[in-house]
Amino acid sequence: MLRPEFPIVTERLLLRPFLEEDADALAAIHAHPSVVRYLYTDVMTAEDALDAVRHRSGATSLEAEGDQFGVAMILADDGAFIGDVSLVYRSEQNGLAEIGFVTDPAHRGRGLATEAARAVLDLAFESLDLHRVIGRCDARNLASARLLARLGLRQEAHFVENEFVKGEWTDELVFAILRSEWSAGRRAAGEP
Ligand SMILES: CC(C)(COP(=O)(O)OP(=O)(O)OC[C@H]1O[C@@H](n2cnc3c(N)ncnc32)[C@H](O)[C@@H]1OP(=O)(O)O)[C@@H](O)C(=O)NCCC(=O)NCCS
Repeated sequence: MLRPEFPIVTERLLLRPFLEEDADALAAIHAHPSVVRYLYTDVMTAEDALDAVRHRSGATSLEAEGDQFGVAMILADDGAFIGDVSLVYRSEQNGLAEIGFVTDPAHRGRGLATEAARAVLDLAFESLDLHRVIGRCDARNLASARLLARLGLRQEAHFVENEFVKGEWTDELVFAILRSEWSAGRRAAGEP
């Protein structure tokens, strides 16, 4: 079971469960058209954001198939809410989970999503019997594809026009990493 102690502390971030007080910051991030461009969701209203944080505040563990885990990315130096990382337990039988992330445009390009996602993946592989983690994105979402590759996930598929999203057919990329590959990558990076 993935039920970490919070906050999860990384070099520059604290990862903690969502709180109702995050609603305004979440709404501000999801008000940027560039943030939601390749998400399934649209720009959030304040009410949407409050619903979202209430829903996500309970997403603190992964135990059974279908469970969702989500943590707020908080800058350690000033306490700002700057995004989130999520993990969904897609299949217990196949040991399969899916990762997702969003970073505030004001804080992109600093490797913060990479740092947060690595910490979540470390904990997930340590505490759950996961065999494989996938990440999916619109083929035009180059920042997301680069991030998945930077985390060590391999591009395994480019599905052509397999989803109809926001009024158009879209291509989807699927990336994946096995437990053995994650462990080997961490060992190569000098992690225990
Ligand atoms: C995808 C997304 C989360 C990436 O956010 P981010 O915090 O900028 O991501 P990263 O951690 O990968 O950092 C990005 C850049 O920082 C650079 N960087 C700077 N310092 C770094 C460090 N210490 N460590 C790692 N990377 C660093 C990287 O080289 C990378 O550059 P690149 O994108 O040109 O390759 C962000 O673009 C986003 O929120 N997009 C909208 C929402 C979305 O589409 N989410 C994905 C849905 S599938």
